[in-house]
Amino acid sequence: MLIQRTPKQKTRGAALPLTALLVCTGLAWPALAQTTAPQTTSSQLATGAKLFAANCASCHRADGSGGMKFGNAVSADLRAPGLETTYKSSDKLLLRAILEAKDEDGDRLDQPMPAWKGRLTTADAEAIIAYLHTLHS
Ligand code: HEC
Repeated sequence: MLIQRTPKQKTRGAALPLTALLVCTGLAWPALAQTTAPQTTSSQLATGAKLFAANCASCHRADGSGGMKFGNAVSADLRAPGLETTYKSSDKLLLRAILEAKDEDGDRLDQPMPAWKGRLTTADAEAIIAYLHTLHS
């Protein structure tokens, strides 16, 4: 019994600093992400704004508010919080919506919303998504 307890206590003693280290790293990580994110997105945002103006504004309006009629379809409002709610705050689902013209459930979005795959790269679409996040109703 005594032989079994001693190593257990030793392990616990060694695990404590390790746990503290993991907690500290965990706390430091979001702060690190916050300081680096604006740098990566500032040029991405400029690209996204340009691509949006060139490819999307004609149907979704310059401010992203949409509401233009195309036969029975109406162009979507691409501003927050509506769009983010529809796509469950998932950039992955939004990426699919843009590249494959599929809604949040995977059904084809109404025409004339194009599937942009082949005309826009994934990086292009991601830049547009970063820009869309800055639009608010
Ligand atoms: C020719 C017109 C047209 C162009 C150009 C266009 N869209 Fe659309 N888009 C639409 C229409 C119409 C809908 C609504 C489809 C529906 O409700 O099923 C739509 C829907 C969407 C949706 C889904 C929104 C939702 O609420 O489900 C997204 C995201 C979107 N467009 C993004 C874009 C982006 C980004 C671009 C530019 C790269 C773009 N669209 C260019 C017409 C267009």
